[in-house]
Amino acid sequence: MIDLEEALAVAKHAVARAGTVALPYWRQGVAVETKADRSPVTAADREAEAEILQIIHDRYPDHSVLAEESGAQALDARYRWIVDPIDGTRGFTRGGQFWGSLVALEADGEIVVGVLAMPALGQTYWAARGFGCWCNDQRRRVSTTAQWRDATVSLGELGPLLSPPHGDALRNLIRTAALGRAYGDVAGCAMVLDGLADVWIESGVKPWDLAPSRILIEEAGGRFSNFEGGTSLNLGNAIGSNGLLHEHVLRSLQLQQ
Ligand code: IPD
Repeated sequence: MIDLEEALAVAKHAVARAGTVALPYWRQGVAVETKADRSPVTAADREAEAEILQIIHDRYPDHSVLAEESGAQALDARYRWIVDPIDGTRGFTRGGQFWGSLVALEADGEIVVGVLAMPALGQTYWAARGFGCWCNDQRRRVSTTAQWRDATVSLGELGPLLSPPHGDALRNLIRTAALGRAYGDVAGCAMVLDGLADVWIESGVKPWDLAPSRILIEEAGGRFSNFEGGTSLNLGNAIGSNGLLHEHVLRSLQLQQ
């Protein structure tokens, strides 16, 4: 098995460098191009990704990679790094604060290291299996809210969330919770890690948008799954919770499909 401490250090170094590369472009009117899927990309995304991949490649030249801007490089079958150089590019191009790099290491199909950075806020969340979840040097733990009527729900992109087949169930969940908030992008998950929200619900996303979330949430004491209750990142949706409210969300989604 890989040395997790070392892999974590590589991931943290990579996101720190990516932030250093991206920050000079932030709020400076960076040119925005539109990709084939109509999502935006900038020089900051490309340069940050190149930096991350170089750092990973220097230490682990045989590992496979799946990266948002440059695609898949299949090498070693056991280890794969999943990279989103800037999650929240749209917000980044408009001067918002909730953007940053996501880097995760998958070993034999399980994510074992995850890092989520928000350079504009100076915050880096990190976890490795058995190490706990941390933001900078402070331990993070999920909330203890146990009743849905008391819950704060952090919502991702509302378009896909409120569309069929889950839209009706989600509207009902939002209506019956204490509070629904949609800060989105990397902040959506971070709110649960900080105990500021009890559940995060996301949809319409790619594996690289979700890759570090499971280990971050589990190491913070919570639970992560897709809308079907499994852990595959390929369904494009996710629930990250404090654990206590997870079944309620799953049941509600499944009942109303
Ligand atoms: C986007 C973010 C956003 C989600 C979009 C994604 P990107 O990722 O994750 O929260 O709503 O669907 O495309 O493209 O900025 O890495």
